[in-house]
Amino acid sequence: MSLAVADTGAAAPLSAADQAQVLAVVERLRDLPGALLPILHAIQDALGHVPAAAVPIVAQGLNLSRAEVHGVISFYHHFRSEPPGRHVLQLCRAEACQAMGARALEHRLRERLRIGFHETTADGAVTLEPVYCLGNCACAPSAMLDGEVRGRLGADALDQWLDDCGVAR
Ligand code: FES
Repeated sequence: MSLAVADTGAAAPLSAADQAQVLAVVERLRDLPGALLPILHAIQDALGHVPAAAVPIVAQGLNLSRAEVHGVISFYHHFRSEPPGRHVLQLCRAEACQAMGARALEHRLRERLRIGFHETTADGAVTLEPVYCLGNCACAPSAMLDGEVRGRLGADALDQWLDDCGVAR
């Protein structure tokens, strides 16, 4: 059975290409047990975020209310409702990293980037996100930049990592 395109309400409409991707993801994964999370992950992997206009399509595909889908998106820190910057920096804030100096890294990032968590720099270069364990606790403190995890990070090493990615100071 193919999905009709849902009424997206007041949300900014999806481009035709993005809408096709969302529909394809829902069609492909809707029969999985607990399909909502895999669908949201797949949409974010494809589009970089879960646009508000995708919510009614997902809701319709899974026979859920829009509020149920929205509730899951807002519950999990991982999901973004807005497109990220060119680089996504995730700083671990879980226990081992906190114990090994993650707060100093956070302080340096706030000074350098002038943003807080879940925000993007004015030039669109970096989105800063918290994450609660990267599975790299033995090398705490850890962060992940564009999918690459590094541990035993000091503030200077973190700065250098951003410099190497071309992020302006
Ligand atoms: S606590 Fe930071 S990687 Fe596990």
